[in-house]
Amino acid sequence: MSNDFSRVRTAEDYTAARAASIEDPEAFWAAQAERFTWRRRWDRVLEWEFETPSVKWFIGGRLNITENCLDRHVEAHGDRTALIWEPNDPKEQARRITYSELHERVCRYANVLKAKGIGKGDRVVVYMPMIPDLVVGVLACARIGAIHSVVFCGFSARSLADRINDAGAKAVLCSDGMFRGPKEMPVKSVVDEALEQCTTVEHVLVSRRVGWDVSMQPGRDTWLADELEHVDATCPAEEMDSEDPLFILYTSGSTGKPKGVVHTIGGYMVYTDYSFRNVFQYEEGQVFWCTADVGWITGHSYITYGPLLAGATQVMFEGVPTFPDPGRFWQVVDKHRVNVFYTAPTAIRSLMACGLDHVLSYDLHSLKVLGTVGEPINEEAWHWYKTHIGKDRCPVVDTWWQTETGGILISSLAGVTDEKPGHAAHPLPGVQPVLLNAEGGEITGNGEEGLLCMKFPWPSILRTTWGDHERCRQTYFSAFKGMYFTGDGAKRDLDGRYRIIGRVDDVINVSGHRFGTAEIESAINQAKGVVESAVVGYPHDIKGQGIYAYVITEAPVGDPEDMRGHIVEAVRQAIGPIAKPDKIQFVSGLPKTRSGKIMRRILRKVAEGELDKLGDTSTLLDPKVVDEIQEGRL
Ligand code: WTA
Repeated sequence: MSNDFSRVRTAEDYTAARAASIEDPEAFWAAQAERFTWRRRWDRVLEWEFETPSVKWFIGGRLNITENCLDRHVEAHGDRTALIWEPNDPKEQARRITYSELHERVCRYANVLKAKGIGKGDRVVVYMPMIPDLVVGVLACARIGAIHSVVFCGFSARSLADRINDAGAKAVLCSDGMFRGPKEMPVKSVVDEALEQCTTVEHVLVSRRVGWDVSMQPGRDTWLADELEHVDATCPAEEMDSEDPLFILYTSGSTGKPKGVVHTIGGYMVYTDYSFRNVFQYEEGQVFWCTADVGWITGHSYITYGPLLAGATQVMFEGVPTFPDPGRFWQVVDKHRVNVFYTAPTAIRSLMACGLDHVLSYDLHSLKVLGTVGEPINEEAWHWYKTHIGKDRCPVVDTWWQTETGGILISSLAGVTDEKPGHAAHPLPGVQPVLLNAEGGEITGNGEEGLLCMKFPWPSILRTTWGDHERCRQTYFSAFKGMYFTGDGAKRDLDGRYRIIGRVDDVINVSGHRFGTAEIESAINQAKGVVESAVVGYPHDIKGQGIYAYVITEAPVGDPEDMRGHIVEAVRQAIGPIAKPDKIQFVSGLPKTRSGKIMRRILRKVAEGELDKLGDTSTLLDPKVVDEIQEGRL
């Protein structure tokens, strides 16, 4: 191993790298940053304080991240496959795109954006299914210094409009429609509906995917294919500052509307590459497959950026795990000889429930490393994954991180550091987690539980929340002085491995997707006839957490199914189908304190079925309401 610790290969290396990263963080990260192409080297590695907060990495450094994702690989090995695109329908042919081809496509797309007058600092919203143009469009933004904000295609027109408006986007990149399993779904018409509420968007570029004849507003909307005919195949990369924003990604918090997490170029680049190579122990020539959607952070860091920075070959999958049958993931692994496979516990649980026949029909010998992300993995699912997919020969990495952290912070390194079911295990070298008690005191012993915080910055920590720095300070840096607070609770086992217990705030993690309870409640309250609602999470066999809604209506509910339908529709309109409640219970009141605060703890216990653990209810305004809620439990 080289002494820059850029690649940790043994347990001893790990211990040494971790010690070195704590002793001299700047030297540690400078060595990682040396691996990249910089137009101008940084003057200082790091300046930080967690009060304002203000964090800057590789200060004074100038670069373009796409030169590191593309140009340097084109020079070294342009014919290497960058993307193996696997379509939704297995009957449609897969497409292979080399680094040279990807480079040219990004340049052409970038030239189209430039021709539209889009440039450095402009915001571009990307609302597209998992087709190559999604990655190409995102990289094209980075090429010209525009700030991309990808919105997952499962979000409704209203959610999309909120994000476009918050970001002040000048352009939207989308497709005509999308394939999802057996269904064809609209995309462009959702954009059209959203844009009725937006004033900043001047251009919409449409990729053709399903071949629909969609409406095109003259002067605003154009087909990407037509535009590409008139542009050059080369596009010089815009020189950017290390601390210029690379992207905004909206994510839910415990209160109000989603916030735009901002990541900047230099630090994000260094950390996504470093974490990708080390966690998965990726070797040149291997085929990597992350099943996430680029609409979420996992698809940013471990599809769009990390693997391309590392010069990897990866599968990009358009479809869903259960189409045309629940063997699809394993069929794709077999077909493309996938070596490293990275997915969500939800997917594992749902495929586990479909039986082993779907697994056994395929040859999974190519697999070398398995990973999970997004939510705690229960031991049963972990063992099933390890035994039936990894055939007990593949290390399983349980990777803990967040939209705000930009990359994996806590995870075993595949085959290098030990693994334990249900445990994300150890921090990556360069990451300094601590557990705090409710008063903010550090818990130093092992075998203890506390609130998970970080006491030192890593290069891909969020820098701000778009347009509202104060919100960033309040959400992440105000709970405990001098600490980044994750919102998660965790336990350290006797050997110092971390097990993530889950959110300690009002955030629900449904199938690995984050939703604030307040956000869902405000959607439900928009349904006609609803007076008030309270939403909590409850354990769900497949999704990890399900959404349980308690709803007060104006008049007694005649047909509960009918009313539930209205409520689900309201959530669908406001957020999207991904946030629809699993259970809706009609109640005449909610348990509130005398000051009017809803006692969610009680609602959570009822939803979880732990009726004997409701605790003291005597301080409630109306304790009787709890009896009614318990009786009506679904
Ligand atoms: C949860 C996803 C347990 C956690 C990358 C975190 C996890 C939230 C794990 C972030 C894991 C993520 N084990 N819980 N391995 N990974 N989480 O922003 O609660 O969509 O705070 O980022 O997911 O979700 P986000």
